[in-house]
Order: sequence, then C-alpha cells, then structure tokens
Amino acid sequence: LWTPGHIIESMVQSVRAQVGQDEVILGLSGGVDSSVVAALLHRAIGKQLTCIFVDNGLLRLNEGDQVMETFARHMGVKVIRVDAQDRFLSALKGVADPEKKRKIIGGMFIEIFEEEAARIKNARWLAQGTIYPDVIESAAAKTKKAHVIKSHHNVGGLPEKMNIKLLEPLRELFKDEVRRIGEELGLPHQMIYRHPFPGPGLGVRILGEVKKEYADLLRKADAIYLEELYRHNLYEKISQAFAVFLPVKSVAVLGDARAYDYVVALRAVETVDFMTANWAHIPYEVLGIISNRIINEVRGISRVVYDISGKPPATIEWE
Ligand code: XMP
Repeated sequence: LWTPGHIIESMVQSVRAQVGQDEVILGLSGGVDSSVVAALLHRAIGKQLTCIFVDNGLLRLNEGDQVMETFARHMGVKVIRVDAQDRFLSALKGVADPEKKRKIIGGMFIEIFEEEAARIKNARWLAQGTIYPDVIESAAAKTKKAHVIKSHHNVGGLPEKMNIKLLEPLRELFKDEVRRIGEELGLPHQMIYRHPFPGPGLGVRILGEVKKEYADLLRKADAIYLEELYRHNLYEKISQAFAVFLPVKSVAVLGDARAYDYVVALRAVETVDFMTANWAHIPYEVLGIISNRIINEVRGISRVVYDISGKPPATIEWE
C-alpha cells in the first residue's frame, strides 16, 4: 500500500543500509526536491548529513534566512551557509549574454560546492534531489541529443571529479509523491508548493548585465508580487509567477518632480509540463494592487507591465 508514511519508512531503511556510517553531503537550494531529500536524509541518518547552501546573491527576498530557519533552526539539520554573493557578482560583471551568464553561475556554483565539500571529512556520498521526470529527461537527452535551448543547471560531472557516489532517494518518484512525502516529513506547506525557481535565479530575471542594485530592486518588487498572489489565493492556482527586471528607464512624475526610473515586468503562467504555457489571467483588480504597491514601495521602479506572451514562442523566463 502506497502511503507517504510507508514509503518514508522504506526509504529510511534503504538509505541507512546504503550509506552505513559514511558522511553524506547535499547541495540544498530550498527548492522542493532538495528540501525533501534534506528532510528525509535527516530522518534517516541525522548528523551524518551535511547540507551546503550557497547564497549566490541571486536569491529572492529573505530566501537564505528562510532556508536556515526551516532546516537549521527548526529541524536541527546541519547546514553550511556559504555567503558567495560577491564572488558571483564579480564573475558576472560586464556579462550580458544569457547563456554566458548561465555558464558562469553554474560553474561558480560547482567551484564553491567543491571547495566546501572538500572540507567535509570522509564524505563518501553526494545526495541529489533527482526525481523520476529528471531521469526520463536526461535519458531522452542522451539518446536523442535533444536540441538544447537553454543549458540547465546540472552537476553531472561532479561525482566522478570528487570521487564520491551518488545518493538519489527520490529517483522513482513523481512530483506529487515528493510533495506528499515532504508534508509527511513536516516541511512547511509553502515550501512544498513553491513554484519552480531556476538554478541561475535572479541572474536570468535581470535582463543583460547583473548588478546588485538591480537585484535589490527586483527582490522587493518580486516579494510584493508573490505576497499579493498569496493574499488573493492565486499563488497555487498559477504554475509559476515572478517579476523580471528591465534595465530600461522610463519617465514618471512623482509628486512635483520628474523621475526617470526602471521598469519591472510581471510574468505568470499556467502549464502542465513547462514545455508549453499560457499566460495566466490574473484579475485586473489584483494586477492593479500589485502595480500600485510596487510603484509606491519600491523607489527606483516607476512602471510595471504585464507579460501576455504564450510559450511557444516566448519562454517562461525572459532569458
Ligand atoms: P523556460 O524559460 O525555458 O523555462 O520556458 C521552463 C522552466 O524551466 C525553468 N528554467 C530553468 N531551471 N536552470 C533551471 O534550473 C535554468 O537555467 C533554467 N531556465 C529555465 C523555468 O523557471 C521554468 O520553470
């Protein structure tokens, strides 16, 4: 009988049998899959698990603190938080091309992860939140040499380089099963039903060159957007929603003064598989509230636009 409780019990047993007394490391992103792996491994092997959480400066508002709060404080999971914002930002300086940005962010992530992993003595296992659809997707990519539109985050070469074995306890599960297990393990509902967030983070939501100033503005606007979607009970009806920073300036009048400020675009899509998507029909009243709040509360942004492009051809992310 498939119940979350049973499957957790059997996964806990098999993880214990597999790793014995070895140390395990896990790159924790705060996304659904790696979070569920962290909670599961914590239950199975407790202090033999060390999570590495890399703050690349491209996370959403308070995201790093929330990850530490949930895992380190509440659950007692061993988490190393690596503050690498400056390294990422300086590596990205002057780079505007989306694919180059992705490569730099992915490469830097691996570099930092390896450095941290090397400090953990006797680490023999690298845990990953691979789920069944990922297994299918990478098998398809291998046989068909699928046309790569965007190079997605992957740490494929890492295990051999680090001389470490892969531990993928969610390999046979679908997303909804992973969520049910996460809930059973006591992870917060909001974390389990979070929209996907790309590995390169705000790096691909700030068009062109990434600057700290832009990231700070985008974080504030994005937080207001998501807060209003939650407040209006829309967040979980939408597949993915986020703000995009446009590094162009437009004219505004603020009080008696003329301002010349940046623009933010709101993206929201409904999709089953993320391969095709429709733009979400958020009610005008809600869009109005979001736009007013962003313009009033985020100094430096004076114009908000709504993205009404379907995929194809427009990808969900703008880069
Ligand atoms: P696109 O923009 O290709 O996005 O329509 C489809 C889904 O994939 C996510 N995405 C990424 N995820 N690394 C990731 O881990 C990436 O480089 C990346 N690019 C897009 C996107 O957020 C959406 O859910």
